[in-house]
Amino acid sequence: MARRLLLPLYRKQQYKGTQSMSTPLKVVAVSGGTFRPSRTLVLTEALVAELAHHLPIDSRIIELGDIARPLGGALSRKELPETVEHELRAIESADLLIVAAPVYRGSYPGQFKHLFDLIDQDALIGTPVLLAATGGSDRHALVIDHQLRPLFSFFQSVTLPLGVYASEADFSNYQISSESLQARVRLAIERALPALGAAAGDLRKIA
Ligand SMILES: Cc1cc2nc3c(=O)[nH]c(=O)nc-3n(C[C@H](O)[C@H](O)[C@H](O)COP(=O)(O)O)c2cc1C
Repeated sequence: MARRLLLPLYRKQQYKGTQSMSTPLKVVAVSGGTFRPSRTLVLTEALVAELAHHLPIDSRIIELGDIARPLGGALSRKELPETVEHELRAIESADLLIVAAPVYRGSYPGQFKHLFDLIDQDALIGTPVLLAATGGSDRHALVIDHQLRPLFSFFQSVTLPLGVYASEADFSNYQISSESLQARVRLAIERALPALGAAAGDLRKIA
């Protein structure tokens, strides 16, 4: 059963006609932090770096904080400045989305939702999405399953089963300091690989 669920994700790349296993996977990571430094950004970067260790990827990280002000002033897509529109188009055309959000008041930030309110509702159908979140403590770890996953279910995206939650205690000076979080990052990527048409190890890049 698991195999039947995972195969279409790889086929999505083939249907697009621009991807094969020899071309890099277009990975767009959205970090929903609005401040710098940002633990959410650090976690996002760790996930992208771990994926790059296994697969040839063409990655781009979009920081919500970089676009939040013009984004927040736009009530519709046509009011967006071209720079922000460009970022939205990148999200819509990704082969894989990595989406990480800080917990604000028990959920993802309002600005993060506003970003996805402006995404075409059909653009992410079938797109695999790796979910991650950071919070002040472990008490809101279910934000991944109770808040982020339903949002991407709306988009008919394929959220990967294992997400990564980190609390402030996993970081020191905005660097990942806990081995447990490092292991969770590795495991999440290892579990994501079959959904991307790759098996752990067999597509490892030669440095
Ligand atoms: C406005 C605001 C609301 C927050 N609400 C929560 C919360 O409800 N639960 C929680 O665990 N942490 C909460 N936090 C803490 C952040 O989720 C946490 O510090 C997170 O790692 C911040 O990410 P960043 O470093 O990328 O900004 C909140 C922080 C802010 C600024």
